[in-house]
Amino acid sequence: MFRDINLETARSVIRPFTMDDLPAFHAILSQEAVMKYLPEDVLSLEEVERILDFVTDCYTRNTPNNIIKFTVAVADKATGRLMGWVGLGLLEFDTTRTELYYGLAETYWGIGLATEGARAMLDFGFRSLALPEIVAVVSPENKASACVLEKIGMKYRRAVRNLPADQRYYTGFLYYSLSREEFAEHSDHGEASGHG
Ligand SMILES: CC(C)(COP(=O)(O)OP(=O)(O)OC[C@H]1O[C@@H](n2cnc3c(N)ncnc32)[C@H](O)[C@@H]1OP(=O)(O)O)[C@@H](O)C(=O)NCCC(=O)NCCS
Repeated sequence: MFRDINLETARSVIRPFTMDDLPAFHAILSQEAVMKYLPEDVLSLEEVERILDFVTDCYTRNTPNNIIKFTVAVADKATGRLMGWVGLGLLEFDTTRTELYYGLAETYWGIGLATEGARAMLDFGFRSLALPEIVAVVSPENKASACVLEKIGMKYRRAVRNLPADQRYYTGFLYYSLSREEFAEHSDHGEASGHG
């Protein structure tokens, strides 16, 4: 389920990462614009190698009831080129929740690709993994990402407050969530099943 994911959207293929993706993934995660609203700074090749090691190891450790980290590659369907990532994992400041996240190299922004990928992963989370709920947190300044969450039907609940000192980074972030029931209701109206 985690090791052999292979989803297609209109323009992309969503597949597991391999260590062969290291140079292309590093090229993305070393872009300042990409990292601007993420907790990490631009990443070195060694750091991305450690991330990929962890991510690929998690493919065999994740279970539907315990998704540690499920980060997968978003590749161009036509060329196979790595465009970005999408994933589900434990929300850092509340590990009882499963968080949806995504990102793309800057050249691919603004043409609906993140919406396509995020929607496919939301669908996978609810339909294939039967998750009870999926959440997402976004910096209020990251307007494009908040827009993606709204477009895929996630519901804004509140601004994040009252975090312990070591998680203060997320204070003021916008907290979105969607329950399986809300997703089903949304899908029944045909709104969550399209591709971008
Ligand atoms: C956030 C990100 C994934 C968006 O990717 P994308 O492919 O450009 O997103 P989409 O094209 O699917 O949708 C973006 C939407 O935001 C809108 N948008 C973009 N910039 C905006 C801004 N400054 N203010 C308001 N809306 C904005 C776009 O108009 C578009 O909406 P539309 O389709 O209704 O016109 C991309 O910017 C990225 O990879 N950022 C770096 C990583 C990151 O921040 N990830 C999210 C962490 S929460």
